[in-house]
Amino acid sequence: MDKVYYFTGSGHSRAVAEYLADKLKRQPYDITVGKHEAEDTEVTVVVFPVYCESIPDAVVDFLKTVTTGFAAIAAVYGGVSPGNVLFEAQSALKRPLTSAATVPTGHSFLSGGDTFDRVALDGFIEKVKNPAPVAVPPMKKAFYADLFPEWRSRVGVKIKKGDTCSKCGNCEENCPVGAIRRGVPFDGCIRCLRCVSTCPERALSFECRPFLRRFLERKKKTETVLYN
Ligand SMILES: Cc1cc2nc3c(=O)[nH]c(=O)nc-3n(C[C@H](O)[C@H](O)[C@H](O)COP(=O)(O)O)c2cc1C
Repeated sequence: MDKVYYFTGSGHSRAVAEYLADKLKRQPYDITVGKHEAEDTEVTVVVFPVYCESIPDAVVDFLKTVTTGFAAIAAVYGGVSPGNVLFEAQSALKRPLTSAATVPTGHSFLSGGDTFDRVALDGFIEKVKNPAPVAVPPMKKAFYADLFPEWRSRVGVKIKKGDTCSKCGNCEENCPVGAIRRGVPFDGCIRCLRCVSTCPERALSFECRPFLRRFLERKKKTETVLYN
C-alpha cells in the first residue's frame, strides 16, 4: 500500500499530488489537516513546494514521522531553482527513498496555472509501485538561500485585505505558521499565500513587487528531473 500526502500554499503541489494519487488509485491527504503524522504504509509519497530554496517547516516535521517502508518525494517549484531540497528532505527522513523529483510549475507570485509535465512523472509512479532504494546527490543552492528567507518574501510580496473580509477566521485556521489575524498578516508570515487561496470571501489578494517579478520572470527551468 502507498499513501499520498501534500502541503500547499497556492495549490500547485495539491494539483501534482492529486495527479499522482489518481494514477496510484489513492486519495491525497493534506498534511496540515488532522493528525499531521504519516501512517504506516509501504511507500509514503510527499509532495511539497519549494519556498526560498527550502522545504516548508511543516513538511520537514512531517517527513520525520515516516517510520515505515520507503518514501517518495516530489518538490514542486516555480522554475527558478529547487535548491538542495531533495537532499535535505532525504536527510530529514528516517526511511530510504524510492524516488524523488523536482517538478517545475507556475510560480505562486506570478500568474499561471498548475501546468506540469505529467508524462515525466511516469517513472516516479512506477517506482512507487515497485519500490527499491535510491540516493539523491546534493545540489547547489544560492548562498543567500538561508538568509532571512521569510523576511525576503515579505519584502517582495504584499498581502492585501479587501472590503469583503467577514472576519470569518478562515485565514487564521489555515495559516501553517499562525501568522495572520483577521486578514492581516504579521511577523512570521512566510507568504505561502494559503490565506489568499483559501479565503471564502476572496477578500485577500497579493501584490508582487516589480523588482521580484522581474527576477522571477527570468526563470528558465522547465524540466522535471527524476531520481530513480
Ligand atoms: C514564499 C515562496 C518562496 C518561493 N521560493 C521559490 C524558490 O526559491 N525557487 C522557485 O523556483 N520557486 C519558488 N517559489 C515558487 C513555488 O515553489 C511554486 O510556485 C510552487 O508551485 C508553489 O507550490 P504551492 O502552490 O503548492 O504552494 C516560491 C513561492 C513562495 C510562495
